[in-house]
Amino acid sequence: MDKNHLNGLLRPKSVAIVGASSTPGKIGYSVINNLIEGKYQGKIYPINPNATEILGLKVYPDVGSVPGEIDAAIITVPAKFVIEVADECGKKGVKGLIVITSGFSEIGRKDLEAELVKTANKYGTRVLGPNIVGTLSNSDHFNGSFAPGLPLPGKASLISQSGALLIALDAATYTRKVGFDKLVSIGNMSDVDFADIIDFLEDDKDTYCISLYIEGLKDGRRFIESARRAKKPVIALKSGISAHGAAAAASHTGSLAGATKIYGAAFKQAGVIQAADLNDLFNRTLTLSLQPAMKGDNMLILTNGGGVGVLATDSAEKYGIPLKFAPEELQTEMKKHMPEFGSAKNPVDLTGMAGNDWYYESVKYALTDKWVDGLVVLYCETAITNPTEIAIAMKKAIDDAGVKEKPVTISFVGGEKSDAAIAWLVENGIPAFNAPDLAVNAIATLREYAKIHEDGAAAEFVPNEKARKASLEIIAKARADGRNALTEIEAKQVFSVYGLPVTSTSLAKTEDEAVNLAKKVGFPVVMKIVSPEILHKSEAGGVKVNVKDEAAVREAFTTILKNAKAYNANANIHGIAVQEMAPWGTEVILGSTTDPTFGPTVMFGLGGIFVEVLKDVTFRVTPVSEDQADEMLSEIRGAPIIAGARGESPRDRKALTETIVAYSNMILELKDEVAESDANPVLVYEAGKGLKVVDARIILTKK
Ligand code: COA
Repeated sequence: MDKNHLNGLLRPKSVAIVGASSTPGKIGYSVINNLIEGKYQGKIYPINPNATEILGLKVYPDVGSVPGEIDAAIITVPAKFVIEVADECGKKGVKGLIVITSGFSEIGRKDLEAELVKTANKYGTRVLGPNIVGTLSNSDHFNGSFAPGLPLPGKASLISQSGALLIALDAATYTRKVGFDKLVSIGNMSDVDFADIIDFLEDDKDTYCISLYIEGLKDGRRFIESARRAKKPVIALKSGISAHGAAAAASHTGSLAGATKIYGAAFKQAGVIQAADLNDLFNRTLTLSLQPAMKGDNMLILTNGGGVGVLATDSAEKYGIPLKFAPEELQTEMKKHMPEFGSAKNPVDLTGMAGNDWYYESVKYALTDKWVDGLVVLYCETAITNPTEIAIAMKKAIDDAGVKEKPVTISFVGGEKSDAAIAWLVENGIPAFNAPDLAVNAIATLREYAKIHEDGAAAEFVPNEKARKASLEIIAKARADGRNALTEIEAKQVFSVYGLPVTSTSLAKTEDEAVNLAKKVGFPVVMKIVSPEILHKSEAGGVKVNVKDEAAVREAFTTILKNAKAYNANANIHGIAVQEMAPWGTEVILGSTTDPTFGPTVMFGLGGIFVEVLKDVTFRVTPVSEDQADEMLSEIRGAPIIAGARGESPRDRKALTETIVAYSNMILELKDEVAESDANPVLVYEAGKGLKVVDARIILTKK
């Protein structure tokens, strides 16, 4: 992305309003009024063929007649005129178009939108929108929108896919006291998208935190790359998590993939902090724009009330930073600022007698204590204290401690006086809330932000030309047969060339061949029907396990064939697979699916009932690193089973992570051919003993 063009678009030095109007109430009027009221210092050129002056500004009949350069053109003419205007702007050398006009892809006019982008890009002009409210920048006094006014100034910038929401949030910045520098409405994202603006804001000296409202990304992978590159905190609220992609899934994995899981995975991989709802987006944005990351897990809670202390302790557990007892030395210090009956353990309960001095001394000391990584200070309004004075004492303590690298979040519970104290604290740069849960959530956000930067390097795709070639041959053969799925034997061959440990499986066409293969593999064996028309083999009576000797092989061969024919008389039967019977292990499932936004993704979960009933699975966008694979093992609810629950020894975590990495490389390399796949079940043995892929399925892409 050309930074100069984006700068022209989002921080223009001169702006034309094409469709400027002298009629109050029209958008073309409102934008000019907003620019003037916002005290925009750049040049404003209203464009209208029929007017001479609007709001005291000289009007030009068209863009070409403007004497000076134009950085951005805000377009407020009806859709049918937009292409022509874009062409005029291109000829004039305008850097970017802010297209407020609706009536493009959002109502099915993809053609018109494509033509707009093509026309503008031909001249190097970039397009923001269409179908947007506009864009606002406090540091430039630029309100190039029909939003009510510039937001409360602050250190975060917001990119919103919903224009209406941006307008609502703009007004709410004043009541919530969460300030923003830039608000960018991104609309249909015909040209400039989230990734471009994240890159821009990363370099913007007035933005410290990047806040996103996302309905759906166009290019998920580009988004991951930009967000991952960003050194500033990126926080996102994703809406529309219900119906997505999971519709016509042919594999197990496909049916389990949904927007929530895949977006959640992508955000993790991109280092994006996810907000649960609008309130959470505001609270976390406020926190991330005001406080530093929390570099360790040691959180100290200071309180004047046991109840809020316990509530905060519960929240600490909920948000993944459970409280630890404060060390002796710290407790001894804390005891100096509380009565006999106070508690210095953690939460440090200064008791209801705590006044300005005790809060001041304990906050100041706690911040300088080497054990403390972050501080949550709680206060309940009492008759013997004044909330604003307490707030002032806390702020003074923070300043006097002189410790800039440790975060502090605060909660005041009480009435109007407490609310006023909260507002005062926020205005003075400290995130403060009206509930202990919110203060703990805030500090947990700062911990999460620090952890993002502790994470290892991004995963790298490792090409495997030999495996790719061998796989493509197998796939080509299946396609030549008119099949869109591989047989189990073929799928296992593909898995195997990519280094996945599959059970050895061979095809027997006759009973004698089956006997010979069984002898070679070693008894007992498993025998399965191989037919492209019979995907649910057990259901068809097409599987026999623990086949112990030659006679049993012969009997199984006849029975399986009989059952298969009874199940589907027209099934094309390739033969019967004879395979090694893997010893019992913990059943897990690996799978892959092609997400419409992020492309190939991998899934991991516990197999059997865990996946069928509890859907206890987790996803990652490929490629997956070993660290990320290891995270996957830890984040399912059944994680203790892998770690070794109820006296069981831990499962082979290393083999499992290596297999997930190999699997992710495989499906990324074969993304044009493989739509979905499952390795189910995979039997995992105790540490050091590896695993075996017992069954495999590959569904091909439609060609
Ligand atoms: N160059 C310059 N001005 C032009 C022009 C051109 N080629 N063609 C028309 N105009 C002028 C019109 O004469 C009019 O000015 P006037 O009031 O002096 O007559 C002005 O542009 C606006 O055109 P008009 O036909 O009155 O349209 P409108 O103001 O009713 O609606 C939009 C225009 C863009 C606001 C409307 O089409 C639209 O898209 N609305 C939705 C916007 C929205 O909600 N965006 C998304 C938010 S999430």
